[in-house]
Amino acid sequence: MENFSNEQPNIDVLILAAGLGTRMRSNLAKVLHKLDNRPLINHVCRAATALAPRKVYVIIGHQGEDVENAVLEELDETHAKFVWQKEQLGTGHAVNCAREFLEEEDSTLLVLSGDVPMIRAETLAALVRQHHTHRGRGAACTLLTVRLEDPTGYGRIVRDEAGLFNRIVEQKDTSEEERLIKEINAGIYCFNTQKLFAALARVQNDNAQGEYYLTDVPALLRQEDEDVSLYQHSDSREVSGVNNRVELADLERTLCRRTISRLMLDYGITFIDPKNTYVSESAGIGRDTVIYPNVTIEGRTEIGDGCTIRSGTRITDSRIGRAVEILDNCVIVNSEISNNCTVGPFAHLRGNAKMEESAKVGNFVELKKTILGRDSKASHLTYLGDATVGEKTNIGAGTITCNYDGKNKHSTNIGNNVKIGSDTMLVAPVKVGDNSVTGAGSVVTEDVPPDTLVAGVPAKIKKNFKDAEKDNSQGKAV
Ligand code: UD1
Ligand code: MG
Repeated sequence: MENFSNEQPNIDVLILAAGLGTRMRSNLAKVLHKLDNRPLINHVCRAATALAPRKVYVIIGHQGEDVENAVLEELDETHAKFVWQKEQLGTGHAVNCAREFLEEEDSTLLVLSGDVPMIRAETLAALVRQHHTHRGRGAACTLLTVRLEDPTGYGRIVRDEAGLFNRIVEQKDTSEEERLIKEINAGIYCFNTQKLFAALARVQNDNAQGEYYLTDVPALLRQEDEDVSLYQHSDSREVSGVNNRVELADLERTLCRRTISRLMLDYGITFIDPKNTYVSESAGIGRDTVIYPNVTIEGRTEIGDGCTIRSGTRITDSRIGRAVEILDNCVIVNSEISNNCTVGPFAHLRGNAKMEESAKVGNFVELKKTILGRDSKASHLTYLGDATVGEKTNIGAGTITCNYDGKNKHSTNIGNNVKIGSDTMLVAPVKVGDNSVTGAGSVVTEDVPPDTLVAGVPAKIKKNFKDAEKDNSQGKAV
């Protein structure tokens, strides 16, 4: 049925993701391998959803449940439809599995491969635009092609004498002459949905791989005098498929370079050694922040302006404020660091650790699910787990919160202006009140009231500062 309205046809998306990917030599299905720490299929889904399709059909097979879960991290359930391809008999067979849902739809079907993850939404939009406007009436099929210096492995685009599309030849079916063709099929197509399914019914598997090739459909359409248009794209990296681990590593580097260049050119971040720095596409970094070599910034990390991040540090899914200094070899995961803090070297923050403004964490200090208050310091060799530390408190070298009794975790609560002496063991659950002091080597097993000095093993109250002050003013020795 023709689309007589002036409106653009509806867009549906179909993503091929049922194959195992033998060339990966992996037990994990190819589309679940990660690029920038996200499964390949998720990258494809994100680009596709930018076009606001009605539905995204995902053809699943190998490890289908896992692929489904990965996709649902990117798409909500109402927009995703999973279709099983029990036996992988080729890309044509894979599309055919969705026949019952699509063959009568009056729509444009954008077919994508789950293993072509770098494709950008802008490029897909341009492909769809050409598909709808080709010769003023739209094409039955539009192929995204690209010219490659080394086209090995890809299906080649054979054009006729007039330069128009003739057919696609798969690598394994090429003649010597066809192998020289540099224009390849990117595995990204737009189809008139009904025409696609009509032609698909006639696809045979008489080829080198004994598979039903989706790539035979454009030639069948052509034979029926339908228009097949070619959208030749210039950025070949964007349509690179991942078929083995070398290609995966290449894409990882390409994506990271693209991200770092954008951060330098558009956002004013200094990278001392961009080639040896890893930054996720999903991370945000503020102006005039300086990043030293061998830093890894992962996930949805946000870093403010004017920070310094020294070598060997990894930051994952964390929020860092402004003018924060992170020294060498720190690991910071799921944590929050406020403005003007100093961290490291060799510090470890994890499990919702939080440093409030101008706090300091020094070398060999670990913070787990702990809040370190404004202007407070834990400068050396300390473990603070399940703890809350108030403002202007100093945690001495070697302090440990003994938070685990072998079964449960317990919390430690330390007030403002406290001085925890070196090598103090805080046996949780325990509280230390404001302005109190623990002597070096104390083992604190009971709550310490405010304004109190405790010491010893187990720690005993030695002095109450308020009383001592009173006695002092009365002229008594203390
Ligand atoms: C395919 C194209 C080739 C193109 C290349 C671009 C075919 C026959 N060939 O080759 O022209 O140059 O992509 O990257 O289409 N899949 C299924 N079910 C199957 C087979 C494959 O879902 O039965 C899925 C795979 O999981 C993968 C995608 O389809 O995500 C492409 O399959 P793959 O085997 O990688 O095809 P290529 O050899 O790369
Ligand atoms: Mg492939």
